[in-house]
Amino acid sequence: MSKLLIHGTKKLKGEVQIHGAKNSTLPLMAASLLCAGECVLHNCPALSDVDTAIKILRHLGCKVERTAGDVVINPLTAKNYDIPDHLMREMRSSIIFLGAIVSRLDRAILSFPGGCELGPRPIDLHLSSLRKMGVDIREDHGCLDCVVPNGLKGAVINLSFPSVGATENIMITACLAKGKTVINNAAREPEISDLADFLNSCGAKIHGAGNSTICVEGVRRLTGCEHFVIPDRIAAATFMTAAAITGSTLTVSSVIPEHLAPVIPALEESGCQVDLYDSSIRISAPKHLSRIKSIRTMPYPGFPTDAQAPVMAMTTLAEGTSMFVENIFESRYKHVGELLRLGANIKVEGRVAVVEGVKRLSGATVEASDLRGGAALVVAGLAAQGTTEVYGLHHLDRGYESIEKNLALLGADIRRV
Ligand code: UD1
Repeated sequence: MSKLLIHGTKKLKGEVQIHGAKNSTLPLMAASLLCAGECVLHNCPALSDVDTAIKILRHLGCKVERTAGDVVINPLTAKNYDIPDHLMREMRSSIIFLGAIVSRLDRAILSFPGGCELGPRPIDLHLSSLRKMGVDIREDHGCLDCVVPNGLKGAVINLSFPSVGATENIMITACLAKGKTVINNAAREPEISDLADFLNSCGAKIHGAGNSTICVEGVRRLTGCEHFVIPDRIAAATFMTAAAITGSTLTVSSVIPEHLAPVIPALEESGCQVDLYDSSIRISAPKHLSRIKSIRTMPYPGFPTDAQAPVMAMTTLAEGTSMFVENIFESRYKHVGELLRLGANIKVEGRVAVVEGVKRLSGATVEASDLRGGAALVVAGLAAQGTTEVYGLHHLDRGYESIEKNLALLGADIRRV
């Protein structure tokens, strides 16, 4: 079983290039199914979730080629409308393929995305919205059998929560539906705007992405296009916390600084100096970090739930008490138990976690139980005295491209064994 070996307390310095956003790449790959031509996606990260999305597209019958950061998808040969159970379970976001498959093939057979990494992750908003748009969905024995008896039609959809995945699924389904779809209380994450930009380049008519109301006028056909995936704001935030906890100065480049706006105030509150440039951010950490009074995870443009764990790792060494309130997922504190092994002082009560900063962390053996929780363990390990061993690397590989290589290039003593 592979693990990361970290000898902590080394300072980081230099510049790290941030890869393309996982959470953009996956819906873009799903959306490419709608196109009547080849789609070329540049800046796709080398992540296991992207490998899974490629496997799904190939299973559906698409031709997919991958060279370095480019994924080229030819969806014209798609003919299968099912996603095998093991691929649905490998990646919860495989549900994002549902709208694209029914739009393309008038039928889809999927199982429920499995597991319970962050607590229950229902898909009721996806299903009720697609039903409104003319998809007949039968849920039987953990299986979703979806047919489109009379064609897809536009609808007014009022989301009870601005779900990122549901907003994406609706946008994708609406592009080739008859008439207009209005999504009220839509998610506003940058990945939603990236998806709209891609689809509009293919000939879709989507207005308002990035706002709470999105309108999609159905069109008859989409072409292929070339698209550059936006940078991964969560990977960027993770490297910023790594700089902060190790007292380092680091340049995080190939980013869209505006997308980090919800995270930057937390870093500033901890005493870091954050300088913004056109496509990079320079972070200079103080000698001693200060506490962050309170962090409440919220839909964008609020503080991202995906950055909660790495930022919490950072506050374990901050002077004073920091408080976290997790509002998006029910069970997103699985990293806490492992941070305690490293000497952190954290108490969790329901959705609230209270971190009392300690003077030092000490290396230990820890195990990642989810992607961002795993990143938090790496961040803490970088500042822990002695050796930290991090297991559960398959979680990290879902969302960080060669995290150990990038950190080692910056001066960290970290390797995969
Ligand atoms: C996406 C991101 C994930 C991020 C999350 C919130 C991708 C691939 N993943 O996940 O990294 O943590 O946004 O920013 O983009 N919900 C329902 N019913 C539904 C759908 C969602 O109740 O049908 C609830 C969820 O259980 C959760 C909340 O809504 O409590 C947010 O989920 P959602 O925004 O849908 O997250 P994902 O799209 O799964």
